[in-house]
Amino acid sequence: MDPPRRLGTPEELRRWSERCRAAGLRVGLVPTMGALHAGHLSLLRRARADCDRVVVSIFVNPRQFGPGEDIDRYPRRLDEDLDMLAAERVDAVFAPTVEAMFGDLNATTVHVDSALTTTLEGVHRPGHFDGVATVVAKLLIACRPHRAYFGQKDAQQCAVVRRLARDLDTGVEVAICPVVRDHDGLALSSRNVYLDADQRRRALAIPAGLSAAAGAFAGREHRSAILCELVRRPMEDAGLTIDYVAAVDEQSFAAVDVVAPGCQILVAGRMGSTRLIDVIRLGIDPAPLGAAPSRISQVPGVIAIQGRD
Ligand code: PAJ
Repeated sequence: MDPPRRLGTPEELRRWSERCRAAGLRVGLVPTMGALHAGHLSLLRRARADCDRVVVSIFVNPRQFGPGEDIDRYPRRLDEDLDMLAAERVDAVFAPTVEAMFGDLNATTVHVDSALTTTLEGVHRPGHFDGVATVVAKLLIACRPHRAYFGQKDAQQCAVVRRLARDLDTGVEVAICPVVRDHDGLALSSRNVYLDADQRRRALAIPAGLSAAAGAFAGREHRSAILCELVRRPMEDAGLTIDYVAAVDEQSFAAVDVVAPGCQILVAGRMGSTRLIDVIRLGIDPAPLGAAPSRISQVPGVIAIQGRD
């Protein structure tokens, strides 16, 4: 089994991708910050199923962390990640240094000037989406993949990326894949390693709350205030500090009073110093608790593909 080709600079990524395209091969890109888990693997398995060549980027992007956030302790496990990617038969790994990615003189920021970046995560993590948009734009420009893969777990990030891919005429198809959960319903996240056993148990209040809301929605409760309260209550009881619980329209991310199928409930809360986010699409996603555990050996379906018509 050949290990994935290591690429360290945007120029190397560009050359690798150009060679693939020149050979008539479809290129899939999966951007990550590493510390890979089954959620990441689901994206690259989808990419492998759709594309001829797959490149995974691993870059803990300093621009998307605010002051006082967890960049210093963010898990970095490059060797383990590379082993996992070799086992997954990924073709290339782009793992640049901060210097290679941004250097000293990089003065450009990509800003998505929309309510998409000012609500919810935008309120609690000012500047975060500028950092995400800038690094994703750089990856799309250097790689020019046919398709790039993102997880619904970061629902607002998906909306921001779709918008920038469209607004900048990248021609890149953006594919969104469903949330992968642990056996107990907690959404997989690189940050879950920060939780001790007791915190992890209490964090299950998030999938429990989302499940209660999904059940009430199935029972025809469509008032967002009631549904959000069903999510909030177990989180508060478990000692989570809530940043927000919001029912939003899937396209605009504007808050809704009455929830229609497809509307999302987005959650962000802190357990100790660990920030956790989650999401459910009402009437579409299975309730996180009691659902069959995500079968990670399966290639996930895609929720949405935006791109060339
Ligand atoms: P990271 O948190 O490493 O996530 C990389 C990709 O994996 C994102 O698209 C994210 O939504 C997806 N992902 C994470 N957990 C998931 C889960 N449980 N189920 C399904 N998909 C999941 O998101 C980022 O990195 C960065 O912001 C990045 C886009 C790489 C830009 O720096």
